[in-house]
Amino acid sequence: MKKMLPLLMTLLSMCLLFAQKKYSGFDPGAIWEDTEGLHINAHGGGMTIVGDTYYWFGEHKVKGGRGNQSWVGVRVYSSKDLYNWKNEGVALTVKKDPASLLIEGSVIERPKVIYNEKNKNYVMWFHHELKGQGYDAALVGVAVSDSVTGPYEYLKSFRMHPKVWPLNFSEEQKKHAIEKSKEKLKWGEGSVHGVYFLRDFEIGQMSRDMTLFKDDDGTAYHITASEENGTLIISKLTDDYLSLSNEYVRIFPGGNNEAPAIFKQNGKYYMITSGLTGWKPNPARSAVASNMFGPWKSLGNPVRGTEEEKATTFKSQSTYIFPVVGRKNAFVFMADRWTPQNAIDGRYIWLPIEFEGDNPIIKWYSNWNLSFFDSKK
Ligand code: DGJ
Repeated sequence: MKKMLPLLMTLLSMCLLFAQKKYSGFDPGAIWEDTEGLHINAHGGGMTIVGDTYYWFGEHKVKGGRGNQSWVGVRVYSSKDLYNWKNEGVALTVKKDPASLLIEGSVIERPKVIYNEKNKNYVMWFHHELKGQGYDAALVGVAVSDSVTGPYEYLKSFRMHPKVWPLNFSEEQKKHAIEKSKEKLKWGEGSVHGVYFLRDFEIGQMSRDMTLFKDDDGTAYHITASEENGTLIISKLTDDYLSLSNEYVRIFPGGNNEAPAIFKQNGKYYMITSGLTGWKPNPARSAVASNMFGPWKSLGNPVRGTEEEKATTFKSQSTYIFPVVGRKNAFVFMADRWTPQNAIDGRYIWLPIEFEGDNPIIKWYSNWNLSFFDSKK
């Protein structure tokens, strides 16, 4: 029997190899197995590219409604072809220590990782809510690692820009916000008039749905839903990417944008966001700018398709847009089809970005692969 063991082991691994699903394309909305046969667990994700390898970071969700809190942390997968993903483990682990803000049961959402050339390390930013406090804390969290797959060391969570005025808040707007603060406003109106901004001026601005964008010259930006999700705030990061600099702008005050995703093509910055309906899908929005600090011009709903697809963004919400390595002007839109009642079952909607004139658009393809971009040159 002892002699048979190596043979049995070889047979077993061969069986596993044959049983392993090998993908050669994208099937948006379907169960997407990793190379071990488990549905990929990287929700609200982002993509980091190192050479010819893609690293997909996302929220590790567990079963049931409690899966919307973080019981494991941020998981990372790697792939060279974008179809087949290897589980690289937990990049940022929640803590058992009740003294840590990152304690299990807090909320960690939408992790994004960028490489800092200066310090030769990887910096992760994420939306962080404190345990037992719902979505009230509205913090942004930062972690760092020398290796792309981690482990990431948790550094801090904070409110943004306490006592710092944005670059685009005029004296006129300040006066208006002060006047409006004296009125009884309906929920949501506070962001239109800068009243929520003023309310949080001393303690720092809220940060919920967020993303990072690293420009060609290495300048990095944090883009987030602030002021009760009413206004987007775009901030330049410091050179080490570990903090926000004091340079920032408020955009689309009162626009109720969530889930920002950014890409740059031919010198222009494009942004796709969602509206504000919790876990339920809604029509996406798009915008363009020649500068990250704006002015940003609305381009409307980028979805082309049936009325239902336009109303629900293919039953999904944006999370990131990334360039395909080795191809010019080829970008993939990543979105989540949330299942908050059983968070772990959330699905991934990946679709190619197309252009209609100068405007980015998204159409549904139930089966597609990167050769899609061959015809688009
Ligand atoms: C929508 C956001 O986009 C998600 O990341 C999450 O924060 C849910 N809202 C919570 O309701």
